[in-house]
Amino acid sequence: MCGIVGYIGKEQAAPLLLEGLSKLEYRGYDSAGLAIHNGTDVEISKCKGRLKVLSDLTEGGAAMQGSLGIGHTRWATHGAPSDTNSHPHINANSSIAVVHNGIIENYLKIKNRLLEKGYEFQSQTDTEVVVQLLDSYYKGDALAAIAKVMTKLDGSYALGIVFKDRPEELFAVRKDSPLIVGVSETGKFIASDVPAILKQTRDVYYLENGEIVRLTRNEVNFYNSDLEPIEKEMKTVQWDISAAEKGGYKHFMLKEIHEQPKAVRDTINPRIRNNDIVIDELNMSEEDIKNLKKIFIVACGSAYHVGMTGKYVIEDLARIPVEVDMASEFRYRNPILEEGTLTIIISQSGETADSLAALREAKEKGVKVLGIINVVGSSIAREADNVMYTWAGPEIAVATTKAYSTQLAAMYLLAMHFAKVRGTISGEQFDHMLQDLRRIPDQIQSILDNGVSKLQYIASHYVAVKDSFFIGRGVDYTTALEGSLKLKEISYIHSEAFPAGELKHGPIALIEEGTLVAALLTQEDLYKKTISNMVEVQSRGARVLAITNEGNEEAAKVSEMAIYIPNTDKHFTTSLSVIPLQLLSYYVAVGKGFDVDKPRNLAKSVTVE
Ligand code: M6R
Repeated sequence: MCGIVGYIGKEQAAPLLLEGLSKLEYRGYDSAGLAIHNGTDVEISKCKGRLKVLSDLTEGGAAMQGSLGIGHTRWATHGAPSDTNSHPHINANSSIAVVHNGIIENYLKIKNRLLEKGYEFQSQTDTEVVVQLLDSYYKGDALAAIAKVMTKLDGSYALGIVFKDRPEELFAVRKDSPLIVGVSETGKFIASDVPAILKQTRDVYYLENGEIVRLTRNEVNFYNSDLEPIEKEMKTVQWDISAAEKGGYKHFMLKEIHEQPKAVRDTINPRIRNNDIVIDELNMSEEDIKNLKKIFIVACGSAYHVGMTGKYVIEDLARIPVEVDMASEFRYRNPILEEGTLTIIISQSGETADSLAALREAKEKGVKVLGIINVVGSSIAREADNVMYTWAGPEIAVATTKAYSTQLAAMYLLAMHFAKVRGTISGEQFDHMLQDLRRIPDQIQSILDNGVSKLQYIASHYVAVKDSFFIGRGVDYTTALEGSLKLKEISYIHSEAFPAGELKHGPIALIEEGTLVAALLTQEDLYKKTISNMVEVQSRGARVLAITNEGNEEAAKVSEMAIYIPNTDKHFTTSLSVIPLQLLSYYVAVGKGFDVDKPRNLAKSVTVE
């Protein structure tokens, strides 16, 4: 949550920072602010509202002169969105300005101590203690003061810091919140994420926990928390600049939905060689795979739903028991992690706080961790024993689509690879599945080519719906979970997902006239059972929307409308049936006039617990 950008160089800082922040709004967008060193003073502009409000206030940055500055876009944790709670925060004599991403867990204790010393606080934020602590320790040595402050803070933080008496220096530090350093010909940057600086440079350094960076117009110096200088290796980001732009689409979400064929192809193709699946980055011998006794899949939100699909697919194909945990639960429930267990952490951002903590829990207990990650160089990618990257490219919309689809592809690759090595599927079945796996990108493309206007029409019928339920059996249940989350997070329609067979055990009491029930039927052996459940809800007034395989005419008879997806192997149907559900959510949200890319109360990267 929260996005940070900082700049020191030859150009005016404010317009560059606003440009960078516009690429980070997915991380939070309830308020924004800038601190610019004008050569004499540190000037602050900050306000509640979207970045546009700040941009208007500062005339696109032109009203703030100076080539050193820090910027912030906020997702409120401590203190409601307001002008005062916006970052940057500044000390009483305006000599130190700080932007922060993360949570200072012991801020109340620190605040009370500072209050006793006579410090006054303006905001309700946890961040303000950082600037006041810096004020109390700064005696002319910035690095020493920063290192001292770090010893006092519990929790997570990425900080950008500017001192009034240091017009030639920008400082930053991180612990458990992401921060990168970018170097271009005209200046140096700090940022929470790559898209913020992609227009300026691809040359970046990734800051590790506890590291401090000092940027001047000519130099970049890194230090560990003992203030010993350290060397870091510069990396080149491979992402294309256009990937972080809307490219003519009305929203990033729509663009990313349309990018799915390519994203899935890019994830699958490099791992298919000579009609076999080769996952080099797995670093597991055939012996290791044969000896697997259990797999834990741990993730949050949509990535958790991928884990649920993975459970059905891996258990059925490779016959390895799979347990799927929400990362926020896994870390606190003392899971039994024994020899022969593999933990898989799935995360688009690679920065989700709970998933990162789950990774550490597993590693601490001596279990190998495989990360399925989209953002190269992210915290989880760096800390996992092995990483299987999903090649979705930058995903900006808060509601995940293409990253989710590539994570599914990664699950299929793993399941089939494990199954082949363990001899739990025949060569013939493997070959057949491989053919179907290769066809998924084209099939997604055909749904997009032929389905968009139909989905727009269907969505227009459900814009006014108040409650919705998504049901399915087997992998269809896992697709239902994702369809339901997509709808609720961007259209704010109340929505829940249930295994179709579970309805009668309580949820059916909620069905009333006009309730939307989206029923998924892609598992031929379960058609009849789910059709019975559709009839049950329809006879209680529900409006049933069926999502099913081409040729299943029965489903159309018991539904108001039916969407057909191309036929594929039964393990892969989620990859196809989720596409109409993404489009449905998108067009319902657009129909309701909501800001699809920045849904209320949400942020893309959840770096707090
Ligand atoms: O970056 P991650 O994949 O770890 O994020 C996990 C969830 O926060 C994420 O999938 C979230 O549920 C999305 N908003 C869903 O669209």
